[in-house]
Formats: sequence, structure tokens, C-alpha cells
Amino acid sequence: MVARRLLVTGGAGFIGSTFVRRRLAATTDHITVIDKLTYAGSLGTIKPVMDDPATADRVRFVQGDVADADLVRELVADCDAVVNFAAESHVDRSILDATAFLRTGVLGVHALLEAVRLADETRGDRGRVRYLQVSTDEVYGPVMSGLSVETDTVRPRSPYSAAKAAGELLVQAYHLTHGLDTLITRGANTYGPYQHPEKLIPLFITNALQDLPLPMYGDGSQRRDWMFVDDHADGIAFVLDQGAGGGTYNVAGHEERTNREVTATVLAALGKDWSLVRSVPDRPAHDVRYAMDPARLTEMGWLPRVTFDDGIARTVAWYQAHTPWWQAHRGGDWAAYYEQQYGWRLQQSTEA
Ligand code: NAD
Ligand code: DAU
Repeated sequence: MVARRLLVTGGAGFIGSTFVRRRLAATTDHITVIDKLTYAGSLGTIKPVMDDPATADRVRFVQGDVADADLVRELVADCDAVVNFAAESHVDRSILDATAFLRTGVLGVHALLEAVRLADETRGDRGRVRYLQVSTDEVYGPVMSGLSVETDTVRPRSPYSAAKAAGELLVQAYHLTHGLDTLITRGANTYGPYQHPEKLIPLFITNALQDLPLPMYGDGSQRRDWMFVDDHADGIAFVLDQGAGGGTYNVAGHEERTNREVTATVLAALGKDWSLVRSVPDRPAHDVRYAMDPARLTEMGWLPRVTFDDGIARTVAWYQAHTPWWQAHRGGDWAAYYEQQYGWRLQQSTEA
């Protein structure tokens, strides 16, 4: 395979860093990571490849904002493909304040697309820059029955998913209007090592490790399709290499579970008791189910490899072995966020 120069945005976050670590191991690509290092990002996620002599000279880190048009123009000029992971990614925080979601998810995407357009113009016949937008199954909105297919109309219901859908629409517009070589992936709920402890699975693992209550929204009957992070990163890499320009691809996990089932699996892996779980007032406009039709990627030969039970066992073991990492991510604004999000909910909580 010809070595490529990739620009990976948000590459110090959970899925982006997994993509960087795995891509460097699997190819001879050179990767520039641009990441703002918000509360969600940390250099610790890519330290393994920055310190490893086998990969150190193929990875470069730039701290910066994807909405900084001058900076991204300079970085895109030097690459063959952009993989855009950068986003504010937590639904609950988007309900508290959506400003940063729109700045990164709309203005940031616009700055990147403009940089790609300019690079294409400058290069002429010397090849276009491929642009992959990492999106989410949440853009479909809730699916009461059946499966979402790529041609469905997007119906986002949270500020987070509305920002993601807006980003996708811009990408499509630049493909159609300016002929950019674009791809969109819609990924399922992802879990695994290095996920910020604000999300369901790492929140419940790290709370349970401290015997703190696990705040389950409503009755916990909501359903998600779960995917181990290595599989999500590999699905994105597969689309980057094999996808047809202008295409959109569901990256499904093939592991649908209710939140109650997920919680029971996590507790069993930790050897902790259900009595830690508390039913708390629900997330507003909580989507009851996401489920995607995986056929498009399956027919191209891609399938996730890690089962839910195996993925949870690996994830629990990782959090048990990396206490300083998750404790650091439960620092900073964590106490204030936790109090705002969960303080009143836990006061009103009932038996789950
Ligand atoms: P994350 O919050 O762990 O990581 C996001 C990264 O982006 C962080 O390192 C952060 O510092 C960086 N970032 C944020 N704003 C930035 C900006 N303006 N400029 C540069 N960097 C910025 O998120 P994640 O869970 O790894 O998600 C990555 C992508 O995958 C997101 O686009 C998300 O919407 C999408 N996605 C996530 C999931 C999931 O279950 N976690 C599922 C499907 C799709
Ligand atoms: O579906 C893909 C999406 O998955 C991604 O696009 C998002 O970036 C990612 O955060 C995730 O969104 P969710 O809202 O589905 O994930 P979260 O971990 O926040 O919640 C999963 C489910 O668990 C959801 O039904 C809400 C519930 N939940 C979550 C938290 C944080 C609780 O019951 N209690 C909680 O404290």
C-alpha cells in the first residue's frame, strides 16, 4: 500500500486516538494530529505511538482548533486525506450549553472543507484530498422498529445530533457543489479504553469502582447498538480506503442492548451489586432506540470482530488498570459538571 499523509482531527480523543494508534501499527502512513485538547482530549491517548521508536517519526501533534481557518489551510495543504473526528461529543453537555457543539461541528467542518477545496484547486491534476467526516447513528433520531439505512432522512433531536447532522449536510453540499472527494461514516455507540468517564459505560465502571450510585435515566429500557472502539476505528479506516466518493456508510456494532442489560453486564464484570443502580429523572428528548442496517459495509466485506461480552471484559480490565488516567479525567470541571447534571437527579432518584 502507498504510504499516505493523513490529517486526523480530534486525534487525542477516544475514537480518534484509537484510529491513530491502530493506523500507525497497520500501515506506513504518516499522521498529523490536530486537537484542541478540550476537557475531553489528552495527549496520554497518543503517548504510546509518540514514544514508540517504531512510530514516533510518523506522527506529529499540533494543538489547535479546527475552526481556525488559517491553521487548517496550512495543515491540509500537506496531506492526502483528512479524517475529522473533532467534535463535542456528549449529548448531556449539549443540553446544558450547545455553543461549542455548533462552533466545532459546523464552523470547524466548514473551515476544513474550505481548506480541502483550496488544496484541490492548487494541486489541479496532482490528486484530490479525500475528506472523511466521522458522524453518528444519532443523526437518524430514534428508530422505533426496524433499522436505519443510509438513504433515510436525518431527524436529529438533541443539540449534539443536530450539530452532527449540520456538519454532514455541509459535507454533502461541498461534494455536490465543489466536487470534493468526501465520505461520511455513521457510527454506533462506542465503548472501550480511553473513553471519557462522562459516557454511560465508563461512568458506570468508574462510579462502581468507588461504590458510588449509578444514575440510570428513567427505567433504562432505551436501546443502543454497541461497538468496541477498535472495531469503530477499523470500520472508519476501511471506509477511508474502500469507500466510494460522496458515499455515506453505517458502521454498526451488531450488539443491540437495553441500558439495563449493559449495566448488568458491567456490574457482573466488576463483581458489584445491582443495589448501586438508581433510576433518575430522564434526559430530555431521550432517543429510545438506535439501530442501523449494516448491509452496505457487510456487502463490501467489513464486519466488527469484538463481541459485547469480550469488549466489556477488556474495557473493565483497562479501567481497573488505569486509575490515574480516569481520575485525571474526573478532575478539572468534573465536580461542577457532575453536580449540575446529577446532583438534583440523584436527590430525586428511586430504586432501579
Ligand atoms: P471525544 O470527546 O473523546 O473526542 C473528541 C476530541 O476532539 C477531543 O480530543 C477534543 O479535544 C477534540 N476537539 C473538540 N473540539 C475541537 C476543536 N474545535 N478543534 C480540534 N479538536 C477538537 O469524542 P469521541 O467519542 O472520540 O468521538 C469522536 C467522533 O466520533 C465525534 O465526531 C463523535 O461525534 C463521533 N462518534 C462518537 C461515537 C461514540 O459513541 N463515542 C459514536 C459515533 C460517532
Ligand atoms: O450513538 C452514537 C452516540 O453514542 C455518539 O454519537 C455520542 O458521541 C456518544 O456520546 C453516544 O451518545 P449516547 O447519548 O447514546 O451515549 P451516552 O453514553 O451518553 O448514553 C448511553 C445511554 O445511556 C443513553 O440511552 C443514555 C443513558 N445514560 C447515559 C448516562 C451518561 C444513563 O442512563 N445515565 C447516564 O448517566
